[in-house]
Amino acid sequence: MKRIIEVELKTMSAALAECKTQMLVLGHFSDAKQLDATNREINERLGGAIERVIKLGDFKGKDGTSAVVYGNGQIGAERVLVVGLGEHKQATIDTARKAAALAANKAVGMKVQTIAVAIHRAFGAKFEPGLLAQAMAEGIYYGSFRYDEYVTSDEDGRTDSLVVEVIDDNAAKTKRLEEGLLKGAIIGKAQSYARALANRPGNVINPPSLAAEAKKLARNTKGLNCKVLDEKQLAKLGMGGILAVGSGSKTPPRLIVVKYAPRGKAGRLPTVALVGKAITFDSGGISIKPAQNMEQMKLDKTGGIAVLAVAKAAAELKLPINLYAIVPSAENMPSGTSYRPGDIVTTYSGKTVEIQNTDAEGRMILCDAIHYAVKQNCDVIIDVATLTGACVVALGTFMAGLMSNDEQLGKDIEKAAQTSGEKVWQLPCGDEYAEEMKSKIADLKNSGGRWGGACTAAAFLRQFIGDKKWAHLDIAGVDCFEKPTASVSEGASAFGVRLLTTYLMNLTGGKTRK
Ligand code: BES
Ligand code: MN
Ligand code: ZN
Repeated sequence: MKRIIEVELKTMSAALAECKTQMLVLGHFSDAKQLDATNREINERLGGAIERVIKLGDFKGKDGTSAVVYGNGQIGAERVLVVGLGEHKQATIDTARKAAALAANKAVGMKVQTIAVAIHRAFGAKFEPGLLAQAMAEGIYYGSFRYDEYVTSDEDGRTDSLVVEVIDDNAAKTKRLEEGLLKGAIIGKAQSYARALANRPGNVINPPSLAAEAKKLARNTKGLNCKVLDEKQLAKLGMGGILAVGSGSKTPPRLIVVKYAPRGKAGRLPTVALVGKAITFDSGGISIKPAQNMEQMKLDKTGGIAVLAVAKAAAELKLPINLYAIVPSAENMPSGTSYRPGDIVTTYSGKTVEIQNTDAEGRMILCDAIHYAVKQNCDVIIDVATLTGACVVALGTFMAGLMSNDEQLGKDIEKAAQTSGEKVWQLPCGDEYAEEMKSKIADLKNSGGRWGGACTAAAFLRQFIGDKKWAHLDIAGVDCFEKPTASVSEGASAFGVRLLTTYLMNLTGGKTRK
């Protein structure tokens, strides 16, 4: 089986023109009247080559575009990739991330193995160098990722590694770049970990094998601990929701609990619980889904995998918080042992739920896991789930739905969305929606009326939160890229990994512990 592309990241303090590399990467804004000082220097050495592609109109600096010019022995680099950054006034930190992703994506496509990146130089003093470097590192991982571990034919070949130097001629700046790069590499690796796992199909990842992966993760990561509850333990605790959903499958359900606690005592640290839906395959169960696109439902585990990856990143960043990644996992299948429409299920909280649709299974496993989180005495609970098609109808594939019972928490997540580039949009989940989820013959039903499905689903989850601060991310529309773009290949996106890691970093003032 092929391994995912290994990325090596380092900083280098050197004159750009002299740098020996297969590809030097520069940035260029579309509204720049002239080349900036960095690009001008390279352009002059190349006899005006960069200016020429711009003058000819082959490259306008629009984001998602790039141009290649060749070094011809006039500079250290064999080629120069100029990446479009769009309009300067529109630029965000995500502009740098996407540009770096595009460069890494191109490099892998061209089988280039060493690149020297100087995209940050185009931003001048607009952003802090550490933040820029972090975003570029994340982008490098994002763009170079390929999911091909089961492709055995090797016609085209591909590089196994990519060595990336972030280059600057200012030594003091290099130090700050270095710090950001280290953080970005941790987050980038966590992101690639999540993408690889999420892309694996349902015959490979089932609840027990996902639990084994979580155990392995905890074994290999300092500060993490993993506990797995099997079907017998779930029954003993009365986790009727997870058991009901898992009852139709040959592979039994699990509750995976990964805990991160930083080393040493540091007084009372905030405790955050992240709860992620991990349906390893969602056929719909007895309320079976149509055949078209059903294969995409292997991605119904991405929320759970994202929170495992966040735990990995938090531990490697040594964040001063206590963190739970709680992952209820089941396979939703139709069979003679499945749960059925009409069933009444008693959940872990004691609340009863009338099943109207076995395809509304996410909320059934989440309500047990959320109640488990409530019992752990945490300050904040955030759940992440590919929960509803209705959310995709509402927001499309560009933003996740965000629902919360706490204004400040909602704002904090929106802030993290801005820097992480994983966008969210707030939707309501108040009493009107909760009303829709009441049953005549049980406390709740698992499916509301026809309208506002993302909101009623969130309102259902809200019934299990008690007085905790809570936010819900519906990632059904953003869990994958349907087609490759200029910066990323298709498949699982690992949405939530950057967003939630950034949220946790902000919560702790960006501090990491030595
Ligand atoms: N996993 C699906 C939601 C989903 C749909 C994710 C499309 C990604 C893309 C979820 O379990 C589901 O089936 N939801 C139902 C709920 C309904 C039966 C109340 C839906 O959205 O149709
Ligand atoms: Mn479903
Ligand atoms: Zn589902």
